Amino acid sequence: MMRMLLPFLLVLLGVFAILVSIQAQDQSGFISLDCGQHEDVSYSSLETGINYMSDAKFIDTDTSVSKMLQPIGNDTLLQELEYVRSFPNGVRNCYRINVTSGTKYLIRASFYYGNYDDLSDPPQFDLHFGANLWDTVKLLSNESYIITREIIYTTSQDYIQPCLVNTGSGIPFISAIELRPLNNSNYVTYYSPKSVLSTFLRYDLGNTDLYYRYQADVYDRIWEPYELSSDWRQLSISLNNDELVQNDYKPAAIVMSTAVTPVNESAPLQFHWDADNVNDKYYIYMHFTEVEKLAGNETRAFNITLNGDFFYGPVVPKYREAHTVYSTSSKTGSKRYRLSLFKTENSTLPPILNAIEIYKVLDFSQSETLQDDGKFFFEARMMVN
Ligand SMILES: *[C@@H]1O[C@H](CO)[C@@H](O)[C@H](O)[C@H]1NC(C)=O
Ligand SMILES: *[C@@H]1O[C@H](CO)[C@@H](O)[C@H](O)[C@H]1NC(C)=O
Ligand SMILES: *[C@@H]1O[C@H](CO)[C@@H](O)[C@H](O)[C@H]1NC(C)=O
Ligand SMILES: *[C@@H]1O[C@H](CO)[C@@H](O)[C@H](O)[C@H]1NC(C)=O
Ligand SMILES: *[C@@H]1O[C@H](CO)[C@@H](O)[C@H](O)[C@H]1NC(C)=O
Ligand SMILES: *[C@@H]1O[C@H](CO)[C@@H](O)[C@H](O)[C@H]1NC(C)=O
Ligand SMILES: *[C@@H]1O[C@H](CO)[C@@H](O)[C@H](O)[C@H]1NC(C)=O
Ligand SMILES: *[C@@H]1O[C@H](CO)[C@@H](O)[C@H](O)[C@H]1NC(C)=O
Repeated sequence: MMRMLLPFLLVLLGVFAILVSIQAQDQSGFISLDCGQHEDVSYSSLETGINYMSDAKFIDTDTSVSKMLQPIGNDTLLQELEYVRSFPNGVRNCYRINVTSGTKYLIRASFYYGNYDDLSDPPQFDLHFGANLWDTVKLLSNESYIITREIIYTTSQDYIQPCLVNTGSGIPFISAIELRPLNNSNYVTYYSPKSVLSTFLRYDLGNTDLYYRYQADVYDRIWEPYELSSDWRQLSISLNNDELVQNDYKPAAIVMSTAVTPVNESAPLQFHWDADNVNDKYYIYMHFTEVEKLAGNETRAFNITLNGDFFYGPVVPKYREAHTVYSTSSKTGSKRYRLSLFKTENSTLPPILNAIEIYKVLDFSQSETLQDDGKFFFEARMMVN
């Protein structure tokens, strides 16, 4: 099976399913910044209904440049990606975004080059979170890709400072910054408070073409479609948010309405991913719901192994009820990780898997903000004088 490149999402409108619901979902606590958009502009995205505003009030520096992208053929760009803000001056340029302290947020930064500078030379630069290195952003020349970087982070102050750092390989820029409050009890990194989860992959199995996010997903997680392996068969039911009994992770009903199962009913259902580095640490979240109405003499039960070691089981998915199986410690030490779902002896039906998320652990042991950096340092000196 082939793992699609996670951080590269197709950008063109049309790959996102448009799910306009009459009763709009609650966006309370969402912070959605359209970077580079004119100051004081705010709008509700036609594609998602998400309310975006300009990032102008959230930047520390006034030497940035705002650019609108050229349209690409007949395809429409997601509205929040139509502008970029670039930072031709200074090595480090930071945002300062007010948040609710003590809240667990899904924080997403999006980058869509779109040849905004007419140089056809996409840059590479670093993304920092306060004093911590978050990731390197390397844009591809292929214009139809965006790059997203996501972390799950619990704030300990009332603002955060994502920063773009020029590393000598082109001018840093950014397209959008989004924060979504999560339930503090979910996506927990056990025994290591300075650990932060960074999204490695998030697949909607059994769905091969559409992306789903808010409003289908209350937390605005972006669920990617996944190619059907030749060993797999697709299962699906019709399922809306009212018909799914939710758990605390609240995976979108439309995502849970599809699943994969092995073509060979006695074979295990297998899913694997390759680590960037053997020492990387991963957390696993697998989401299940039964999608077939089982007869009285039918059962579906399976055990899960990770690289051959018992991971969890038995799992007995309930009809139209979400169930999440996750790791309570990070998994490390392998180049390849293989999850295998084996049907138990008494099970009459093969295993299923509806959705999967893998997060990589980042170590954020540095300060999350930069009080004595740049502007703030300057202000402090002014006061002394
Ligand atoms: C763009 O849209 C126009 C009008 O709908 C259509 O005639 C044309 O074939 C389209 N071009 C491409 C490349 O899809
Ligand atoms: C952020 O919070 C500070 C302190 O409460 C306030 O002075 C500032 O205006 C806020 N910034 C924005 C952009 O809302
Ligand atoms: C860019 O990516 C798209 C989508 O995968 C692909 O169809 C296209 O061929 C790629 N273009 C180049 C120049 O690599
Ligand atoms: C958050 O999760 C906890 C435990 O998992 C649960 O008890 C609580 O109801 C959840 N809160 C919300 C608002 O969903
Ligand atoms: C189906 O899977 C079982 C268990 O892995 C295996 O023994 C059998 O050979 C497989 N059958 C086919 C047709 O591949
Ligand atoms: C369950 O019962 C139905 C109807 O009686 C029968 O056709 C089917 O073969 C049975 N399935 C199993 C796994 O025993
Ligand atoms: C599944 O796991 C349970 C422990 O939870 C174990 O008792 C059982 O033997 C396992 N079954 C198979 C088929 O591996
Ligand atoms: C499997 O079936 C046997 C015989 O019906 C029963 O004794 C046993 O408890 C069952 N095991 C499980 C895990 O349901």
